[in-house]
Amino acid sequence: MKEVVLGEEAAFGNLPAEVNVGNDPYFLVRDESGDYKLLSRLCPHAGGYVMNFGGGALVCPLHYWEFDACTGSCTTVKGASLDAYPVTVREGVLVADMA
Ligand code: FES
Repeated sequence: MKEVVLGEEAAFGNLPAEVNVGNDPYFLVRDESGDYKLLSRLCPHAGGYVMNFGGGALVCPLHYWEFDACTGSCTTVKGASLDAYPVTVREGVLVADMA
């Protein structure tokens, strides 16, 4: 298990929030249950980077695949999804499990 400390929960007021882990870009989001998770911004189609243009969807600007901003599931191509990693809150600090 590789745990990554993301920072104080209070620092992430607006979600989805852009977060880098090393050189890799992610979005911090919350799912319908209120649980945090990290979604990779690397598009599973052909390597574009997913963007947040608002409206509850994350969109890859290369070929316009769209992803649910809570779950990372692709809403335009069945079965595709962004890589997702669970995030827990420990004493007010967000910790991602990148295993
Ligand atoms: S690379 Fe993202 S939709 Fe094609």
